Amino acid sequence: MSQDVKNRIDYLTDYLSECNYQYYMLDNPTISDFEFDKLLEELINLEKNHPQFAHQNSPTQRVGGTITKVFPTVKHDFPMLSLSNTYSEEELFDFDKRIKDFGIENPEYICELKFDGIAISLKYENSNFVQAVTRGDGVQGDDVSPNVKTIYSIPLTIKNSFVEKFEIRGEIIMPHKVFHRLNEERVAKGEEPFANPRNAASGSMKLQDSAEVAKRRLECYLYNVHAENIPHKTHSESLEALKEHGFNVPDNFKVCKNMQEVQNFINYWDVERKNLDFDIDGIVVKINDYALQQQLGSTAKSPRWAIAYKFKAEQVSSQLREITYQVGRTGAVTPVANIEPVQISGTVVKRASLHNADIIRDLDLHHFDWVFVEKGGEIIPKIVGIDLEKRKTDAQAVEFISHCPECNTKLIRQEGEAAHYCPNEDNCPPQIKGKLEHFIARKAMNIEGLGEGTIELLFDKKLLRNVADFYTLTYDKLFGLEKTIEATDEKPERTISIREKGASNIIKGIENSLKVPFERLLFALGIRFVGETIAAKLAQHFKNIDALMSASYDELLEVEDVGEQIANSLINYFSDMNHMFIIEQLKSFGLQMKIDETATSVSQKLNNQTFVVSGVFSISRDEIKKMVIANGGKNTGSISGKTDFVLAGEKMGPEKKKRAESLNIPIISEEEFYKMIE
Ligand code: IVH
Repeated sequence: MSQDVKNRIDYLTDYLSECNYQYYMLDNPTISDFEFDKLLEELINLEKNHPQFAHQNSPTQRVGGTITKVFPTVKHDFPMLSLSNTYSEEELFDFDKRIKDFGIENPEYICELKFDGIAISLKYENSNFVQAVTRGDGVQGDDVSPNVKTIYSIPLTIKNSFVEKFEIRGEIIMPHKVFHRLNEERVAKGEEPFANPRNAASGSMKLQDSAEVAKRRLECYLYNVHAENIPHKTHSESLEALKEHGFNVPDNFKVCKNMQEVQNFINYWDVERKNLDFDIDGIVVKINDYALQQQLGSTAKSPRWAIAYKFKAEQVSSQLREITYQVGRTGAVTPVANIEPVQISGTVVKRASLHNADIIRDLDLHHFDWVFVEKGGEIIPKIVGIDLEKRKTDAQAVEFISHCPECNTKLIRQEGEAAHYCPNEDNCPPQIKGKLEHFIARKAMNIEGLGEGTIELLFDKKLLRNVADFYTLTYDKLFGLEKTIEATDEKPERTISIREKGASNIIKGIENSLKVPFERLLFALGIRFVGETIAAKLAQHFKNIDALMSASYDELLEVEDVGEQIANSLINYFSDMNHMFIIEQLKSFGLQMKIDETATSVSQKLNNQTFVVSGVFSISRDEIKKMVIANGGKNTGSISGKTDFVLAGEKMGPEKKKRAESLNIPIISEEEFYKMIE
């Protein structure tokens, strides 16, 4: 009986692997999808009930289902080098000259596409896939085997025999059509779209659930093989052989007898790449002969026998229609060039970012100019130049706006900053929404059930004007609300509506946020320059909101890592009546306005003593500082009359030592500190 099960598992494993190969690699389906799914289902069930017979590289691995919490770090058997880049013909000819100067008279080159994805190293033993490791830092990378097994173009078992043990390297890419579909899905779910297919491929490789990776439909192109006793003399022979063994080696490599042929290959693909369904960013030129590769060797970073010719980013020209200005969540005003729509790298471009007033000035942009637009790795293309010949003589230079397009407040530009800001932070609509979104974020109050769309809806219905308003929401106020949000460049039109479940989730999320610790509430208020870490330090130092609000400028500077900019920002924030009112309201709703001493405290042995921790210790400085706080003490960054102890590790700066001595502040060692808290 169990022999029958084993035989059936063996049979299905082989048969379905072959079906996959025929379908994905040869584009030659041999059975119907229905039949395939039925047999796969049977195999999944058999493997579940008889795991002892399951093959490690079974076709069931293609659908994923393995959860990897942490990808193990693996050292590469030999480093994954990079390639030196060239951007011009001259540099390419220099490469050829270097090879010839080395004594190689008529080098034979092989030209390949330079795939723009993420490098991967695949190990095989006895015709079986064993491990896939990312490039990492070139010396060691992450073992992402379960995720890689879901990629159909990577064989899990190899046809015919090959050398017993080998490693093959290549590039994982996301095809354009998969990329566009994935981004549409992400946007529909309210998630950030990926900037480009490379980022999407890289993000996919790091997913913990391999079933999710399987859905991403990644592909892998292979370009290098490493083994002892390779039975081939040239790289092109190896590539041909790899193809025979079922590896996804592209057909479009070419052996070139001279630089003219290399040049032709480059010129051909510089145009033809627009018709590929994946990104390439150049051409790799390699010496074909393995013995010559060996002779030339490598530097620490890259082989001397190969070079990458990088294509220039695609540029097109189009006419400027108008400049519009976007006010961001922080009040920063970004100018955007709206241009006549043009096709670039496969997408229609209507807008290009101008970043700030300096960029407009440096470009000397005039209204209705013809501009050159370039699309690099970013979603939003940029303007890289102006076609002055097409400018009309009476064209007017573009002047940056003086008032906020959202609330008409006069814009300000701080010394040394590139951006213009709208200072009306509490009444300018995008800034209010930005503050509300920041408040509910995971690292802030973590209010579940609410998102960017619902905030937009509640703002629109005038239910939210500041962060205290969250706590005035009720089920009845929420239930039944609806709004259609217009399409933007990034997101299509969508309708947000709140039904029973949505309303009760929001209310539950808001109730739960009452327990969020003080330091996170402080961060959630969105005080300029007060990030997560500073908020935690302020909370630990002052212990409660009242002490923080009444702190003087000098007292604020005593807190570790708080400098003039943060101190000024805090003073400004707390001197605003509107903010005081919001804080009073939050207090009355029962939010956490003081630190929970019981949560972190171990003892009160250092009660309110102020420490400056400096130098190198047997454990990290951060650990030491945590111990100070856990025992009721405070940390500050610089030594002043208020410092009680300087805790000195090795290599403490001589200036600090002098200052402590001149102020008569006791300098204690790590051991003495441990005694104090024993
Ligand atoms: S050969 C020793 N061939 O480009 C170098 N690399 O910038 C072996 N790449 O890390 C690399 N297409 O991830 C080679 N046809 C190709 C390639 C290619 C893309 C990537 C690879 C490498 C990076 C170097």
